[in-house]
Amino acid sequence: MAENVGILAMDIYFPPTFIQQEALEAHDGASKGKYTIGLGQDCMGFCTEVEDVISMSLTVVSSLLEKYGVDPKQIGRLEVGSETVIDKSKSIKTFLMQIFEKYGNTDIEGVDSTNACYGGTAALFNCVNWVESSSWDGRYGLVICTDSAVYAEGPARPTGGAAAIAILVGPDAPIAFESKLRGSYMSHVYDFYKPNLASEYPVVDGKLSQTCYLMAVDSCYKQFCHKYEKLEGKQFSISDAEYLVFHSPYNKLVQKSFARLVFNDVLRNASSVDEVGKEKLGPFSTLSDAESYQNRDLEKASQQVAKPLYDAKVQPTTLIPKQVGNMYTASLYAAFASLIHNKHSSLDGKRVILFSYGSGLSATMFSLQLRNGQHPFSLSNIAAVMDVGEKLKSRLEFPPEKFVEIMKLMEHRYGAKDFVTSKDSSLLSPGTYYLTEVDSMYRRFYAKKAGNSMNGIATENGVIANGH
Ligand SMILES: CC(C)(COP(=O)(O)OP(=O)(O)OC[C@H]1O[C@@H](n2cnc3c(N)ncnc32)[C@H](O)[C@@H]1OP(=O)(O)O)[C@@H](O)C(=O)NCCC(=O)NCCS
Repeated sequence: MAENVGILAMDIYFPPTFIQQEALEAHDGASKGKYTIGLGQDCMGFCTEVEDVISMSLTVVSSLLEKYGVDPKQIGRLEVGSETVIDKSKSIKTFLMQIFEKYGNTDIEGVDSTNACYGGTAALFNCVNWVESSSWDGRYGLVICTDSAVYAEGPARPTGGAAAIAILVGPDAPIAFESKLRGSYMSHVYDFYKPNLASEYPVVDGKLSQTCYLMAVDSCYKQFCHKYEKLEGKQFSISDAEYLVFHSPYNKLVQKSFARLVFNDVLRNASSVDEVGKEKLGPFSTLSDAESYQNRDLEKASQQVAKPLYDAKVQPTTLIPKQVGNMYTASLYAAFASLIHNKHSSLDGKRVILFSYGSGLSATMFSLQLRNGQHPFSLSNIAAVMDVGEKLKSRLEFPPEKFVEIMKLMEHRYGAKDFVTSKDSSLLSPGTYYLTEVDSMYRRFYAKKAGNSMNGIATENGVIANGH
């Protein structure tokens, strides 16, 4: 059986276009600080009319293969997680086959997984399980999380974003799954859903979704601790994880979720919280679960007690989600990418806990063990390839008026046929795919901007075999 199965390599793509949350606040007539302090967001990325979830995933897959020197023939499973519906039948995975077919590789299992922001995690688990299974054929798994998060005008609009992430899965990985350590919570609720197939926008009960998210955090953590304790014969607390990474619809909810874990540790009398913290949070231990989600004093006190631990264990994971916004399926992995970007040189031997949440709802907390790894599959090379700092720096800020204009055009284009786009690729980096046309049979056509891929390490044909 393959050992240390997990993430060998990653790459991330987000559009070069963004707005400042401060400018959007003023444009929307929201009170100053509501989006930046209240939601904790800095900027929001979005696709213009030449980009969509398919173009972003074509870009990130070809970039990953090129930059890590992976032969497309060495991919044996390709899974996509997305909740951005472009076609109710044809999977995004089949669009990506264009990359592999030209190298003669059509023997690739896997299709798309959908459940709000959880689809990427389902896809990742499928690939990890495949490599650990008896049906594994020795090749790599490849997972794509791709979404464009857009909301109708109103309170949810500032919680949009867009990105695609590619994750290469195989044995002997620098980021290995502790596969026995997973706690899940699945339930039937209408907190966020997309019943109107004529619109890209979700129906969202924002307040309910916040409570559901926190309930899922609690429940997954309880299951996770229970499994750890059964396996290791000792109590688990947040001190046993160096970092904790959360799905991030907006940063404030991540702050509240981490505080919730601290409260859980107090209730469990775990060692992660000192006596002062226990004294402050102890009085809330008599609240019922339902009461505790609505109690503002508990929320405030637990965030205060959690602050130093949040700064050490969570803050390094928040860069991309705060800068790009909610990327739905890609959001959790963009947070993880932020951690690698910020801390890659000090992660050897560390455990990182991830929490994945998708409305509707499905959620899992799971554990990764990190090692430095060997080039090209090393933490330092993953950070170099992703080049997050440069990608963020080279974006172009749009005024909110222009963003709203683009959203209106996209509303009109969603589900439409028989149009050509502006084909304007001037804002895109070389190697980026873009949408050129949707014909009279709704068939979508894409072009690739000429030149080397995003930060130009390798050319399109410069691939070498590197399989197990
Ligand atoms: C999250 C969401 C419900 C917030 O919208 P809203 O109801 O208009 O916002 P609120 O009035 O609750 O304000 C948001 C926060 O900003 C704070 N705030 C408001 N104005 C502020 C100001 N001027 N300065 C600082 N903070 C401010 C509020 O106190 C609140 O903080 P709290 O959560 O700690 O109480 C909405 O954006 C949404 O529906 N988003 C999509 C759903 C989602 O992402 N769900 C997450 C689970 S997947």
